[in-house]
Amino acid sequence: MAKKSVASVEVSGKRVLIRVDFNVPLKDGAITDDRRIRAALPTIKNVIERGGRAICMSHLGRPEGTGYEEALSLKPVAQRLGELLNKPVACPSDDCTDDTTASAVNAMGDGDVLVLENLRFHKAEKKGDPDFAAKIAALGDAYINDAFGTCHREDASMLAVPKAMGDAPKAVGFLVEKEIKYLDEKLAEPARPFVVILGGAKVSDKLPAIENLMKTADHILIGGAMAYTFIKALGHRVGSSRVEADQVGAAKQMIDHAANHHVELHLPTDHICSTQFAEDVGDIEVFDDHIKDGYMGLDIGPKTQGHYARVIAEAKTVVWNGPMGVFEWRPFRVGTKMIADALADATEKGTITIVGGGDSAAAAEQFGVADKLSHVSTGGGASLAMLEGKAFAAVDALDDA
Ligand code: 3PG
Repeated sequence: MAKKSVASVEVSGKRVLIRVDFNVPLKDGAITDDRRIRAALPTIKNVIERGGRAICMSHLGRPEGTGYEEALSLKPVAQRLGELLNKPVACPSDDCTDDTTASAVNAMGDGDVLVLENLRFHKAEKKGDPDFAAKIAALGDAYINDAFGTCHREDASMLAVPKAMGDAPKAVGFLVEKEIKYLDEKLAEPARPFVVILGGAKVSDKLPAIENLMKTADHILIGGAMAYTFIKALGHRVGSSRVEADQVGAAKQMIDHAANHHVELHLPTDHICSTQFAEDVGDIEVFDDHIKDGYMGLDIGPKTQGHYARVIAEAKTVVWNGPMGVFEWRPFRVGTKMIADALADATEKGTITIVGGGDSAAAAEQFGVADKLSHVSTGGGASLAMLEGKAFAAVDALDDA
C-alpha cells in the first residue's frame, strides 16, 4: 500500500517533525561525506517553502545513551545543513528533551529549520521508550519519515514518536519514497534480464539477500571475499583467502538451489591474489580457478571482470551491493571499478541501475559514477534489508496514501 507523501501534508504554519538520517561520517569534528544531508534537502525545502517549520531529528553513531558526547554531536551537521540551505540552522541544546529545545521550537517562525541534538544521547531512543517518545512528539504537529538509512530500525523516533502523535498526519519524505521506488518496486517486477551483483567480505551477511533475489534474478554475479566460501564449496583450492567455514554448506545449497531455479550463479574464475593482506607489501599474482597456498584472493581477475562486464551489458535491470575486492587499495580496485564503469555504461543505454548503499555506494562515488546511475541508496543495512525482502514497521506505521 502506497504511503501518504510529504507533498500532500498541509504544513503551512505547522511544526513538522522530520526524522532524517544524518548519521554521517565525521573525522575530528568535520563531516567527511555529506551525501545523507544533501539527500534530505528536497523534503526539508518542500516543507519550508510551503511555510512549514522544519524540526529535523536524527541519531549520529552509537553513543552510550547516558547524555551529551561532543564527538557525536549533531551541531556540525546543523551547520552544514545551514550552508546547504543558505540560512541559519540552529541545534539549540545538548539535550533534545530539555526546556531550551522546547523554547527554541516554540520560537520558530514559518520557514525556519532546526536540528534536535542526537536522539541516541538518551538510551530511551534505542529502547523505543513511550515517555521519551511523548516528549519528542509534543514538539510537532505533523511527522515525516525521510530517514531511509534507519528504516530497518525500531527506535523511538521511527515508531513510538509517530504513534504518540495520534491523529497528526504521518507521511514519507521524498527520499524514502525514491528509495522504495527503486529498491522495492523496480525489483519486484524487473525489466529483464535482471542481474544482481553481490560482493563484500562476509557471505553470512548476504545469504538472506541471495536467497530472496534468487526468486526474481536471471543472473547473480558474486565477488569480494564472500566468493571464496562459494569457491571452497565447489571443492577448489582457495589458499589463505577468507572463508567462513561454517557457511560452506549453505553456499553449496545456494549453488544447487540456483541450478534448480534456472538462475545463473556466476563465481569468479580467476583471482588477483597476494601473499599479504596489505596494499603494498606482498607478492601479487593472478591465479585461474585454484589459488596457490600462501596466497589470498583480494580482487576478481581479468577474465572474470570481462565476463561480468558482458553480463551487465546485456542487462535491463541491475542491482549491486558489495565491492568485488579491496577497492580502497590500488592493486585490488580494478574489479570494483570495472563494475562501476559497466553500470554507468549500461545506464546510458537505458538499463535501470541501483546501488544498494554502504561500501558499493562509496565505491560508486570514488570512481566518479554515482551521478550516472539510476539510484545510489543512502542506506547500508536498510538497503540490504530491502534486498532480503523485509518489510519496515517504521514505514507501515505511516498513513496510507
Ligand atoms: C546506518 O548508518 O546504517 C543507519 O544510520 C543506522 O545506524 P545504526 O546501524 O547505528 O542503527
